[in-house]
Amino acid sequence: MTILIGGAWPYANGSLHLGHIAALLPGDILARYYRQKGEKVLYVSGSDCNGTPISIRANQEKTTIKAIADKYHNEFAQVFHQLGFSYDLYTRTDASHHHKSVQKIFLTLLENGFLYKKKIEQAYCEQDKQFLPDRFVEGICPNCGAKARGDQCDNCSKILDPLDLLGKQCKICGAEPVIKETEHFYFSFSAFQEKLEAYTAKAENEKLWRENAISLTKRYLAEGLPDRAVTRDLPNGVDVPIEGFEGKKIYVWIEAVAGYLTASIEWAKHNRHNIEDWWNDNTISYYIHGKDNIPFHTVIWPAILLGINNPSLPTHIISNEYLTLEKRKLSTSQNWAVWMPDILEKYDPDSIRYFLTVNAPENRDTDFSWREFIYSHNSELLGAFGNFVNRTLKFIEKSYEGDIPQAKIDEGIYRKTKGLYNEAGALIQEGHFKQALEAIFDYVRTANRYFDEQKPWIQVREAIEECKETLATCVFIIQNLAQLLQPFLPFAAAKIKAMLNIEENAWNIQIDLPQRVYDIHPLYERIDLKLIEEELAKLVEKSNI
Ligand code: MF3
Ligand code: ZN
Repeated sequence: MTILIGGAWPYANGSLHLGHIAALLPGDILARYYRQKGEKVLYVSGSDCNGTPISIRANQEKTTIKAIADKYHNEFAQVFHQLGFSYDLYTRTDASHHHKSVQKIFLTLLENGFLYKKKIEQAYCEQDKQFLPDRFVEGICPNCGAKARGDQCDNCSKILDPLDLLGKQCKICGAEPVIKETEHFYFSFSAFQEKLEAYTAKAENEKLWRENAISLTKRYLAEGLPDRAVTRDLPNGVDVPIEGFEGKKIYVWIEAVAGYLTASIEWAKHNRHNIEDWWNDNTISYYIHGKDNIPFHTVIWPAILLGINNPSLPTHIISNEYLTLEKRKLSTSQNWAVWMPDILEKYDPDSIRYFLTVNAPENRDTDFSWREFIYSHNSELLGAFGNFVNRTLKFIEKSYEGDIPQAKIDEGIYRKTKGLYNEAGALIQEGHFKQALEAIFDYVRTANRYFDEQKPWIQVREAIEECKETLATCVFIIQNLAQLLQPFLPFAAAKIKAMLNIEENAWNIQIDLPQRVYDIHPLYERIDLKLIEEELAKLVEKSNI
């Protein structure tokens, strides 16, 4: 059995903000957890360097597409690294391996009869003398009446043909585009209607997808899947490998989602693995993204895989709702966002991971506020967890010269610990990351209560043997926390392991106690509460709302 984990591919057209990370973090938790269990894990993603978002940005900044893609790809890689994301491969869609593999997939679909040519009408701007990419066509959604653009209405989620928009305008110059004929390849989504219905029903029965993915996919299927154009007249992207289609590119629907497979192929090549050992009908796969990417993963990607006879359809869909910021919708155009390079400059990556897990937008939108963020760091991470570790190890340093008492472990605590691996493990596998982390923090609170009730500072004078048992039990808890929290708070887990000289990384109860404590450092520093107002003021000042 292999575990494939696919994180969504962010567009390399601007910095990452907290909303992106809230949607992607579960991928790293899963990858770390399954590796720790000893499973074979492949965790891939990359930067989406193709398509109009990048060419728009390049135009705005009067630079090249490559310069924009390089700048943001490098920044993303750095941000993911700082946050501890443990991708096996983080690549980019302008890499030549990706282009080659995507063209191969395209040709296989063609050979298998799922692509056909069709002359169609498309929006063309006479002012700008070009066919307009989907996102350059703006207008009113014919389905719900909201302002919409491109191929999907942000308001009602309907998949659109940009030609159906009412009151169309060119995004570059504002003129009304004309409609002109061009030839493109169509993908026979309709051929997969029944297979996808059965596939979705199975996912629903077995509760493998998030609720939002089930309901949106059922809606698309109920409306019936129409065939769609999957090539475009675009400046950047993967060339259509067919004569007569020079200058045309394979559209994001096939091209970007295929990244999960193309990156896996690239990884396998470099690590001397057979791709079939990683993508087969026994593969368990998790796809992690925000809710706007649901159709990519539950309709388009499964249809492509069926079309190329790849048996490894997505099994788990982890589609997150959105994160709001100070109770307001995130907006990059209004600069209402917390940008990752900024927050990482000042705050511990564990604090960000903790907050975004405990307040994860798993089933509904959740909010980030500086107040909640700073309080959660000070009271939970530092107050409950950090202090428990610190007071235990300091006590051992002071009263036992750093030698960890080797004594009997409290039975109730032992049983609780053992149960916690099963409980938290099952919750992680089912995609309930928030509940898993809450269960572990309940255990931290139990640990603090145990310390307070045992009163080792009195025992050390009046009940020497009991005191040793108390400290042994506390170290036992800490060494297990270093394992249980590794998927969530990898930096703290590593610090604990260094202080106790633990090398083990395993998802099962750790019984033998370490011998000594080394070089004790607090896990976290207190954050000054005056930063709440400072950060809030900075956010408001920099935004234009
Ligand atoms: N970069 C695109 C987007 O953010 C495509 C994501 S493809 C996916 O919408 F497969 F990663 F979802
Ligand atoms: Zn709409």
